[in-house]
Amino acid sequence: MKFSEDILRQFESGLDPQYPERSVIPATVVGFGEISSIFKVNPYNEWVFKRMPLFDKEEEALHYSESYKFYTSELKKAGLLLPKDFIRIVNSKKVVLYIAQEAFEKADLCQNKLHSFSNDKVLKMLEKIFLEIRKVFLFNDKNYPETMLSIDGQISNWALKEDQLYYFDTSTPLFKIKDEEQLDPELLLNSTPKALRWIIRKFFLQEVMDRYYDIRLVFIDVIANLHKEQKPDLIAETIKLANKILPDNFEAITRKEIDKYYVEDKFIWQLFLSLRRMDRWITTKLMNQTYEFILPGKIKR
Ligand SMILES: Nc1ncnc2c1ncn2[C@@H]1O[C@H](COP(=O)(O)OP(=O)(O)O)[C@@H](O)[C@H]1O
Ligand SMILES: [Mg+2]
Repeated sequence: MKFSEDILRQFESGLDPQYPERSVIPATVVGFGEISSIFKVNPYNEWVFKRMPLFDKEEEALHYSESYKFYTSELKKAGLLLPKDFIRIVNSKKVVLYIAQEAFEKADLCQNKLHSFSNDKVLKMLEKIFLEIRKVFLFNDKNYPETMLSIDGQISNWALKEDQLYYFDTSTPLFKIKDEEQLDPELLLNSTPKALRWIIRKFFLQEVMDRYYDIRLVFIDVIANLHKEQKPDLIAETIKLANKILPDNFEAITRKEIDKYYVEDKFIWQLFLSLRRMDRWITTKLMNQTYEFILPGKIKR
């Protein structure tokens, strides 16, 4: 279906982020991002729309859009397959940027295949994911210090369609040019409670941003996530796979590291989510204002 420019404007003006199904143009939530909410908007079901309410000024959104385009085109140069996409900036009460992306079927999301596939097929899929991630780091080695790309390789960021892997979590365009981070970290903080930003800035932000530039940490993150996905029985085999694909100059990943990383990471994200819930409560109930982000319900870990 051809995309009408006005639809997102209408959608935005009639949206209550806490009750998207009650919007003037009904929408369903297909995913919760840290900084975006992901919708399907009737009747454009072949697209998902990632809504990013992070900007005070249109210039900031335009700058973000440029960074996004650069980042995604570099990922393609590195050899990754990305879904079709386009960006729209809607300037109404506030400046909201939408990334529209080709929608994958639920069954094609690797996170779902993790549960529908046999263990053998899951391991083959994980191997493919590690190989894709390695492409990004080979690209970085070749292009350093001109460009370095980050990647969040978690299984929930990939789709497998007709035996091809697609990477779709492109909405946080973290990349460095001559060792300098190009994304203003304050933008990421816009989705966090104001009163607590100094804590997040001091203790988490740098660590969370740095981990995606280190292939070993990206691998560890992917493997440790198997705990969260209730697949701990696959961890031992996956560590072996990852160590085969990890470039030679890195120390092998160990089980102990995976378990430790998981405990710490779970702590960070749970704390973060409860702080955001508290902030939502204060914003909507005490201050009677709109809370722009949609938070997940209970996450089983
Ligand atoms: N193109 C897409 N098609 C189908 N589902 C998607 C698509 N993009 C995102 N999702 C769903 O939304 C979730 C979060 O999206 P993602 O882009 O990974 O954002 P985040 O940066 O917040 O992790 C995904 O794990 C997936 O379930
Ligand atoms: Mg993601």
